[in-house]
Formats: sequence, C-alpha cells, structure tokens
Amino acid sequence: MESGMNVRIMNIHDYQKVLSLWKSIEGFYIRSIDDSFEGMSKFLERNPSTNVVALQGDEIIGSILCGYDGRCAYFYHVCVKKEHRHKQIGKRMVDFVIQELQNIGATHINLVAFKSNEAGNLFWQELHWTLKEELNLYEYILNPNNIRLLNT
Ligand SMILES: CC(C)(COP(=O)(O)OP(=O)(O)OC[C@H]1O[C@@H](n2cnc3c(N)ncnc32)[C@H](O)[C@@H]1OP(=O)(O)O)[C@@H](O)C(=O)NCCC(=O)NCCS
Repeated sequence: MESGMNVRIMNIHDYQKVLSLWKSIEGFYIRSIDDSFEGMSKFLERNPSTNVVALQGDEIIGSILCGYDGRCAYFYHVCVKKEHRHKQIGKRMVDFVIQELQNIGATHINLVAFKSNEAGNLFWQELHWTLKEELNLYEYILNPNNIRLLNT
C-alpha cells in the first residue's frame, strides 16, 4: 500500500485533474459528450456516492466512475496512473465502490474490458470477477456527436 494514499468520493471540482489523468492512460477512450464537464456534472449528480478518486497528496492518481440505475451498477474509466500501479490502489478503489454499492442496495456490477487489454483483464480476474464469455455487447448510438477519442 502506498503511504499517504487516500480514496474518496469524486466531486465535480475534481474534473480537470481527473480528465488529465484519463488523458494520460494509454488505450483509454474519452467521449466528447459523456466525458465533458457537463456530461460529468450530470453523471455525478445522478450517482453522488459511487464515483471515486485515489489521491496522493493533492494529486489524483486513480479513478473509477460507477453508475447505478436501480438494477445494475456499471464501472467505467477504472484507472491508476502508470507510476503508481501494482500497489493495490486499483483494488482499494474497487473495494470502496463495492462497499458503497452494498450500502445503497445494488446487487451486481458490469463492466466492459477490451479483449486486447491483457493487464486490465488480469486485474479483474485477480479480483475474482466473472468473465461472461456467453455474452455479446450491443450498442445503439443515440447521439453521433458523442465522439470517442483514443489516447495513444
Ligand atoms: C488495471 C489497473 C486499474 C490496475 O491498477 P493497480 O492499482 O495497478 O492494481 P492493483 O495493484 O490493485 O492490482 C491488484 C491485483 O491485480 C493484478 N494485476 C494488476 N495489474 C496487473 C498487470 N498489469 N498484470 C497482471 N496482473 C495485474 C495483480 O494480481 C494485482 O495484485 P498483486 O500486485 O498483489 O499481484 C491499472 O493497471 C490501469 O490503470 N490500467 C490501465 C487502464 C485499464 O486497463 N483499466 C481497466 C479497464 S477494464
């Protein structure tokens, strides 16, 4: 465990630092509408207690977005800054969100991991999450302006 590391609920004042973190994560997609200040304001308002950041001092070094729709919870943008990985920060953030989801009565969590993301998939398997090989993921675009930009 990294000394001085802290996990807390994310608020909209964290937005610029969290966006910078996301932009530093290789392989992450940033969506022009969903990940904008307005998009994140809406998301945090709807999900006030299930989004978290990990901090080292004032620096944001990790994040999880989690939305709960009353039936299922979904994780997005699970990340830890490269130089702080392998110190259980990802696991600690996941545990924090799980605790909060249990407090509000959620029963299960889903997330998407790209098949090509070897480290990400190993992480979820290490945490004993179940890979649903029998499922296909479907998407229907409602707003084509919500452009997905890939970090390189
Ligand atoms: C996935 C990610 C969030 C893990 O964060 P982390 O803080 O390094 O993870 P933890 O230290 O909590 O790891 C917990 C366990 O998961 C496993 N694990 C984590 N990263 C791993 C890797 N790169 N390769 C293999 N196993 C890994 C390990 O077993 C680890 O326990 P150990 O270090 O005691 O062996 C981080 O690597 C990351 O931000 N990756 C880029 C973004 C991403 O892929 N997100 C997931 C999208 S689905």
